[in-house]
Amino acid sequence: MLRRLYHDQPESFAFTPENQKWAEAQITKYPEGRAQSAVIPLLWRAQEQEGWLTRPAIEYVADMLGMANIRAFEVASFYFMFQLTPTGSVAHVQVCGTTSCMICGAEKLIDVCKDKIADKPFTLSADSKFTWEEVECLGACANAPMVQIGKDYYEDLTAERFAEILDELAAGKVPVPGPQNGRFAAEPKSGLTSLKEFDSGKTQYNASAQLAVDLGDTVKRIDGTEVPILTPWLGGKSAAAKPAAKKSAAPKAEKPKAAPKPKAAKPAETADVAEAEPALLKAAREGGADDLKKLKGVGPKLEQTLNELGFYHFDQIAAWTEAEIAWVDSRLKFKGRIARDGWVEQAGKLAAGEDTEFSKRVDKGDVY
Ligand code: FES
Repeated sequence: MLRRLYHDQPESFAFTPENQKWAEAQITKYPEGRAQSAVIPLLWRAQEQEGWLTRPAIEYVADMLGMANIRAFEVASFYFMFQLTPTGSVAHVQVCGTTSCMICGAEKLIDVCKDKIADKPFTLSADSKFTWEEVECLGACANAPMVQIGKDYYEDLTAERFAEILDELAAGKVPVPGPQNGRFAAEPKSGLTSLKEFDSGKTQYNASAQLAVDLGDTVKRIDGTEVPILTPWLGGKSAAAKPAAKKSAAPKAEKPKAAPKPKAAKPAETADVAEAEPALLKAAREGGADDLKKLKGVGPKLEQTLNELGFYHFDQIAAWTEAEIAWVDSRLKFKGRIARDGWVEQAGKLAAGEDTEFSKRVDKGDVY
């Protein structure tokens, strides 16, 4: 299938402040110079926030990671889990059409999608609340046929029950996920024939459905306030890391309580330093601008931003004071990058005519 960017794109994208902190914290998981390894989690969070991946979102993530936009596009267009077209404001429905589900009635579920959502997949319903697609096996074959809606699986479906679920979602309710035919999990419909001593009655629903009910984020767009930022590697703590069994067994999918304020995502180097505007140039000096992409962490987009701010030469960057770094930092989308990647030190060497390990790679054409 051809996967292209949607023809109608929004003007811009920005993470919510909480998602921004989350994204910055994810990058700290990777060794210096390997920020690009965070591309999938960051693209995924952008999709969780917006419902689909817009061009500005892909470019925003590429900029954060100091990679060329095309590299992020390649990732987004390769993986089918990334939605490149607008999805329903309530939910994007993924119907499993692989063997077990097909034998057990997936085609009837697809007919429901065509009837209640849109004739063709990846097409918004008339009220813009839903989109749908057929996907490959989702690994719940013992509970076929099934669909994934948001983060949750709805299993053992009939066309009638599936239609009801869509109606409930459209009405703002969140139906309990899991088997829809009375089964607890994947045991025989007629009841257990072995392991009868197994006590499955500790929770109201099976582990997956119970966790889905407890978390309740299901089809919700994720703005980052749902759970604390998970940064154990930075010394942060997470309430979400508690065992699921200790959570409430409330039968309804309730919204989680407001998350504690996230900690430690902000690099210490940028903490509360008064800003001072560095010397800016209106244009590059005679002889042309330096190739700022020779600084590790500066990609084409960031170089353009630096030029627009008034920085064209290594010696300008090499001269930044702490307060001036804070000024530049606050004008970049990703605070802390300058200190973390050591721009000032790198720029000092390059301004003096020396090479850095990274600039040698750029000169050799190893960095794109
Ligand atoms: S065939 Fe549908 S979940 Fe495996």
